[in-house]
Amino acid sequence: MSKILVIHASPRGDRSHSRRLAEGFLSAWQARYPQAQVTRREVGRTLIPAVNEAFVAAAFHPEPEARSLSMQADLALSDQLVGELFDNDLLLISTPMYNFSVPSGLKAWVDQIVRLGLTFDHTLDNGVAQYTPLLQGKRALIVTSRGGFGFGPGAELEALNHADPWLRTALGFIGINDVTVVAAEGEESAERTFAVSVAEAEQRLLELAREFQMA
Ligand SMILES: Cc1cc2nc3c(=O)[nH]c(=O)nc-3n(C[C@H](O)[C@H](O)[C@H](O)COP(=O)(O)O)c2cc1C
Repeated sequence: MSKILVIHASPRGDRSHSRRLAEGFLSAWQARYPQAQVTRREVGRTLIPAVNEAFVAAAFHPEPEARSLSMQADLALSDQLVGELFDNDLLLISTPMYNFSVPSGLKAWVDQIVRLGLTFDHTLDNGVAQYTPLLQGKRALIVTSRGGFGFGPGAELEALNHADPWLRTALGFIGINDVTVVAAEGEESAERTFAVSVAEAEQRLLELAREFQMA
């Protein structure tokens, strides 16, 4: 875990709880490993383009080597984002829950990094699609903040949570299966409820900063 890729998805800056909690983990981890390399990729406060027709044509080109210069240009950002994934050992994602899912910038980032031939492969087995993940040995930590309460595993609103469980599925599809989620819940509940949840999340993140081993 000597190289960390940090993805922040909240459009909020200093007021973002998910961002602050993730930065808290990062500080604790960097205190332990000062030589660690950190790469930041902002997806909440900068525009990550949505997939368009040109992107689909280029990304799913049947002969990747025959892509035109303009197709290569259409994939340039995606290539860079995929490169960042391969270059790093730990992926630290901070995200709010937005409308039971994640903010659109994070969705756009995922759409850019799930790439045929780079992060997953597709073959046919007796005509049935088979998918193979192409990333190995990576770990992810998702730090999330929610306005409501009870979206965690086993809790009342679990079935409505399409944020971190979806992210876990998408990361697993490309080979990142070692995924830890830390959530603060109840920003829109009583102040005390949220404060307790934030304190628990901070505590868990400090423990994780001690547990995560450097490669
Ligand atoms: C557009 C929008 C949609 C939201 N949707 C949800 C939601 O579906 N469920 C929920 O619990 N909270 C929801 N919230 C509240 C946020 O998850 C909460 O404020 C969170 O702490 C924001 O994260 P941040 O502090 O990192 O920006 C929403 C907030 C906004 C602005």
